[in-house]
Formats: sequence, structure tokens, C-alpha cells
Amino acid sequence: MPEVHLIQPDGQRVTLDVPVGTSIMQAAVSAGVAGIVAECGGSCMCATCHVYVEEAALARLPPMLSTESEMLECTAGERRSNSRLSCQVKMTEDLAGLSFTLPESQ
Ligand code: FES
Repeated sequence: MPEVHLIQPDGQRVTLDVPVGTSIMQAAVSAGVAGIVAECGGSCMCATCHVYVEEAALARLPPMLSTESEMLECTAGERRSNSRLSCQVKMTEDLAGLSFTLPESQ
């Protein structure tokens, strides 16, 4: 099963095995990772699953839909060029090994 790394703002790192087709948010919530709140349960309506993707890997992610981009205007943490909502990123074999850094707040 492919794995990803979630990095807390303080540098603590958690590695998760994520089944293909499962969102990074779902995997993080199931594993009890602090810092992924996911209030809306993955409906792209809360922006509390915000993550920063490692810059070099941005092109490997699925394209961002306008709804995700609009919600990213509502994040508690600063929106950056590598911001994504983790509920909108579903695991694929191509994303294996990727790192996602969590913002200071959700
Ligand atoms: S879980 Fe609500 S926008 Fe991702």
C-alpha cells in the first residue's frame, strides 16, 4: 500500500499507509492525526483539512477544481501556492512517498 508523510508544524512526522482511492484527509482522520479537523467530512465546505504539499510534487496531484480553490480562500492558516485541501486529494500509486505539511491552525 502506498504511504505518505504528514508533517506537523513542529516537525513531527507521521507516516500513513493510504489505500488507493482514499483521500489523504480520510487516512489522517482514521489514524487520529492531530491538525486535520475535517469538519465537513470531505464535502469541500470547511477548509479545515488544509495542507501544504511539497513543492516539487505539486504537478503529481490532481488538478484543483474551482470549489477547492474558493474554499482555500477561507483557511485559518495562510494560503500558499502549494496549499490544497486534503479531502480533495485521493491517493494514487503516483503519490506514494509524498509529504504534506500541516498549517499552524485549521
Ligand atoms: S474536510 Fe471539509 S473541506 Fe476538506
